[in-house]
Amino acid sequence: MRSTLTALRKKLAAGRKLSMLTCYDASFARVFDEAGVDCLLVGDSLGMVVQGRDSTLPVTVADIAYHVACLQRGSPRAFLLADLPFGSYQEGPTQALRNAVTLMQAGAQMVKVEGGAELAPTVELLVRSGIPVCGHVGLLPSHVHALGGFRVQGKAQAEAERIVVDAQALEAAGAAMLVIEAVPEPVGRAVCEQTSLITIGIGASPACDGQVLVLHDMLGVTASPAKFVKNYMAGASTRGDAVADAVRRYVEEVASGAFPGPEHVYGAAAEAVPRIYG
Ligand code: KIV
Ligand code: NA
Repeated sequence: MRSTLTALRKKLAAGRKLSMLTCYDASFARVFDEAGVDCLLVGDSLGMVVQGRDSTLPVTVADIAYHVACLQRGSPRAFLLADLPFGSYQEGPTQALRNAVTLMQAGAQMVKVEGGAELAPTVELLVRSGIPVCGHVGLLPSHVHALGGFRVQGKAQAEAERIVVDAQALEAAGAAMLVIEAVPEPVGRAVCEQTSLITIGIGASPACDGQVLVLHDMLGVTASPAKFVKNYMAGASTRGDAVADAVRRYVEEVASGAFPGPEHVYGAAAEAVPRIYG
């Protein structure tokens, strides 16, 4: 039976952290499912790792929907998330709802949007319509041109506080989950401590409720991966099931809290983030 948000919350209550991986096809979805990955995300990272583009910007709703349908056929168990790609929700709640419906009808159980407080009305409409929402704060890859590159976010105190306030606004709007990407560890930790969303880190903090990596990164396929990446193919089984073995070790290390280690998080460029009552 396919996992649910309730099942994910039960697992957390039992003291196990959640593992998430990006996935784009049925064959990897089956391997990930059998290895016990809790959540599979059709990320707009597919623009870069599958389509070979320089950014996630050209990815369309139809692209995401196609890959969601592929995943759903390969994986009978994992919780399935899909990214609403760049330009598919920024016009407002109605546009977001229309495109989220397409992804849910393709088989997603939750949609993810990049951004903060400005998305509150959008998150509210999606949630009211029965669509679970995952937010995404910190480094927003679809803002790469505005940010001047893929850079760690929240190094300055005001920026760090903004990230906490954005996370709180998403929670207040009804989001159930939040990806926190590429922030100094104390900032990631502050978001976890000051919200009750299910927090999923990628270059954030071991304090998160779970972790996510991009498939091509964790299998050592990506050239010059980010600091937060661990290559689980290094030292993988030579018995002929190297990929499954790598994924099983990822799942176990995330569940136990062994990953991310200090070498996979960003240093305390920001001072401790004060408690924000947003
Ligand atoms: O698109 C993606 O793969 C993502 C993850 C990195 C969280 O958004
Ligand atoms: Na994404």
